[in-house]
Amino acid sequence: MTSNHGRPLLPRISGDGSFSLYSPEFAEGFHSADGALGEARRVYVEPAQLDRFPRKSRLVVVDVGVGTGTNTAALIESIQKRELMMTWWGLEQDPLPSQLALDDPGFQAQWPQPVLSQLNQLIHGDTLLWGDARQRLADLQRLQAGHCDLVLLDAFSPRRCPQLWSQEFLRGLASLLTPQGRLITYCSAAAVRRSLITAGLRLSAICSPQGSGRWSAGTVASPTPLPDVPPLRPLTPMELEHLNTRAGEPYKDPGGCGTAEDILAARSLAQQGSRAESTSEWQRRWRLTDGAQ
Ligand SMILES: C[S@@+](CC[C@H](N)C(=O)[O-])C[C@H]1O[C@@H](n2cnc3c(N)ncnc32)[C@H](O)[C@@H]1O
Repeated sequence: MTSNHGRPLLPRISGDGSFSLYSPEFAEGFHSADGALGEARRVYVEPAQLDRFPRKSRLVVVDVGVGTGTNTAALIESIQKRELMMTWWGLEQDPLPSQLALDDPGFQAQWPQPVLSQLNQLIHGDTLLWGDARQRLADLQRLQAGHCDLVLLDAFSPRRCPQLWSQEFLRGLASLLTPQGRLITYCSAAAVRRSLITAGLRLSAICSPQGSGRWSAGTVASPTPLPDVPPLRPLTPMELEHLNTRAGEPYKDPGGCGTAEDILAARSLAQQGSRAESTSEWQRRWRLTDGAQ
């Protein structure tokens, strides 16, 4: 099967047995190889800390890069268990990932029937805004600025898809949040974290599953300071220093229509002219061998 963009998407079984896809166009998998379902729960649902919301309350949620719908389905599962309600918005340019997932018996078997049925309705409903998320975000801002409790940001990595990690796009997503709202992402890249701070948000890291203090499983950002309650933790001094290295140079897309190549080339030029500490120097100081983005 080929995606909207003419390249095939390859179905995969991820580490925990759950359904995933690989995109040759972006040269990346849709989820961590350890497990799509585990990642959705650990990185997106648990950091949302749904216990904050009283029973029967209605959450406004935005899923950026809906893909197979795994993150949304994991959230629906938790929302249904807690008797919460949800107004959902999705941003996605390609209908094929959700079609492949919903047609796959393995994906169907992952979910209780009420979850699958709500996911189906959302994917086929008019709150999924198809098209380039950068353009569709403007429509969402008109409708939901300041009203969203959760924004789940699950784009391909900044190096592969910088369009959805630019300072401008992240500022737009930040504008959707309520004062206690949370933007949640698997990404810990310094450039992304710095752009979220520039957008006026406070950050926490998502504890890594191994409990290692050094690396995190992602980032949560909110207009209001976040609690120091697992799975959230404050950024470490090492992580904070990382933001001020050249790796913290933001991705910029002022017109909201730059290609990945344009955005990466402009950032690389800005890094070359930057007086910030080099990322390798920071790595040496902290005795790091890999993992810094
Ligand atoms: C890492 S995958 C998302 C995984 C997804 N959350 C899931 O659970 O399957 C990234 C998604 O972003 C979509 N995407 C990439 N560039 C986009 C753009 N400019 N606008 C909207 N969607 C985009 C891709 O089609 C893909 O479905």
